[in-house]
Amino acid sequence: MNMSCSEERERPRRSWAPVVHVNFGFVAGVVFVLLVYFVVQQQEAISALGVATTTVVSQWMSHKQLIKAPREIQPIKAPGEILVASDVHAIAGKQPTQDTVLASDVQPIVDKQPIHDSENGEVVCHTEGLSRGYSETCEVDGDVRTNGTALSVTLVPASRSVRREWMIMPYAKMEVVVRNVTVTQLQDRAAAPPCTVTHTMPAVLFAIGGYVGNYWHDYTDILVPLFVASRRYRGEVTFLISNIQHKPEWLVKYKTLLGALSKHAWVDMDGDTEVRCFPHVTVGLRLDKELSIVPELVPGAPLSMVDFTRFLRETYGLPRGAAVSLTREPDKKPRLLLIHRGHYRLFLNELEIAQAAEAAGFEAVVMELRGNASEVEQARLVNSFDVLLGMHGAGLTNALHLPPGGVLIQVVPYGNIEVIARSEFSEGATDMGLKYLDYSVSAEESSLMELLGPEHPAIKDPDSIHRSGWTNMFDLYLGKQNVRINTTRFAPTLAQALGHLRQQ
Ligand SMILES: *[C@@H]1O[C@H](CO)[C@@H](O)[C@H](O)[C@H]1NC(C)=O
Ligand SMILES: *[C@@H]1O[C@H](CO)[C@@H](O)[C@H](O)[C@H]1NC(C)=O
Ligand SMILES: *[C@@H]1O[C@H](CO)[C@@H](O)[C@H](O)[C@H]1NC(C)=O
Ligand SMILES: *[C@@H]1O[C@H](CO)[C@@H](O)[C@H](O)[C@H]1NC(C)=O
Repeated sequence: MNMSCSEERERPRRSWAPVVHVNFGFVAGVVFVLLVYFVVQQQEAISALGVATTTVVSQWMSHKQLIKAPREIQPIKAPGEILVASDVHAIAGKQPTQDTVLASDVQPIVDKQPIHDSENGEVVCHTEGLSRGYSETCEVDGDVRTNGTALSVTLVPASRSVRREWMIMPYAKMEVVVRNVTVTQLQDRAAAPPCTVTHTMPAVLFAIGGYVGNYWHDYTDILVPLFVASRRYRGEVTFLISNIQHKPEWLVKYKTLLGALSKHAWVDMDGDTEVRCFPHVTVGLRLDKELSIVPELVPGAPLSMVDFTRFLRETYGLPRGAAVSLTREPDKKPRLLLIHRGHYRLFLNELEIAQAAEAAGFEAVVMELRGNASEVEQARLVNSFDVLLGMHGAGLTNALHLPPGGVLIQVVPYGNIEVIARSEFSEGATDMGLKYLDYSVSAEESSLMELLGPEHPAIKDPDSIHRSGWTNMFDLYLGKQNVRINTTRFAPTLAQALGHLRQQ
């Protein structure tokens, strides 16, 4: 169950001397640019090598079921208590009409007008994510006080109440180990610690956990869920961040985005000796769909992945809000970016693929995307393209910066890994307003064929490899495999991408 990223990290890596590619120039009409690639730190190496593969089929299936029958607020409970529909409707400000609550029935909790059950405030916890390996979250509303040393969030009631307690893991993937937050609803005011700092704005508490540094996880596990949690406050929110020591440079890399979500200085919770008082604290980040958003489940008002990518374009100053329109500009060549991979899961015939793209009618560029360029520079670069083409891996997360109407083409290595590959990008890309296409590599195109021969079980019977365990499967199909694309076989996929742009 707990897979890939952590396992990948633990594998021995060769040490990195700075690798410099200087193939710079025009080759057979193809603009071929390899960004100068410079791995400065081991952490960068890890993120460069990381692949976004944390989802397993079972999670994926239950996830699909969830999307079909979304439920807004599920258990409002201490462990062991049972949710009553009337509780949910009380929050939603509606009378109970039925036992099952569908998302469409639930009015979101309104920004800055928290609906109090009473003067006592309330704690509403969402635990439905647990069943899918995602963390739980709590919305704590009323007189809320935080203690960084204890990593606790306490609701202080005005009058006598029932004491309740929850343990919340403030990172959106359960297999990541970070310090839990203790959320407590006190019985009365007597035990309440006095405020040393009083904030008039709400706060969101989250951890920087194990997978950050991998581009897909950065967005899937934290940045998109944080957008969901905090966009409604229009910057008037304080981020309480725990586990910063795990990767302090992460906050530097994403400071522009974090600053666009919160105008106020964030608090390093692990070192915080204050008792901070807030009118509302969200504990943990909820993740409902990988690299995407379920609009009905966003607190405040519905937001979608289209809103998220618009937010990215505004924040990073990305100029293109729409892909090239071939109906309006039929002579214009759409731009295709083929993501170069430098260390493993390589395209063995990059130039040939780029030439095939040129022949299909694209202006093709081959480029490394995990160089030392800043996040903003990289986003601007990707935004100048209409089509992103790449091997399954975290690099495809760059689709976030493509203009809507563009196309993401995921090349899926040999080995029946389509379900895994799609779970990370297919719906996310579609929700961003992109056309998602994938190309499944055949055994003949895979380096495994040469390496192992046609009689090897990895070639003849990929399912037997899947049955032998995640690690084997991962090592073979996602670790050892390089790909030589048959451009004749690939041509229809390129034509489909162009066809999509022709409809714009
Ligand atoms: C915060 O929690 C720690 C650990 O439980 C405790 O020792 C400390 O007294 C608390 N701080 C305040 C101001 O209550
Ligand atoms: C955090 O709490 C969960 C239960 O909600 C528990 O399973 C997990 O082991 C705890 N993690 C740590 C690091 O204490
Ligand atoms: C990237 O690396 C190159 C070559 O080492 C260097 O000249 C350039 O200044 C670096 N760019 C950034 C943004 O760090
Ligand atoms: C490439 O693909 C085409 C079309 O599927 C096929 O006819 C051809 O045999 C393939 N070439 C090689 C070298 O496998």
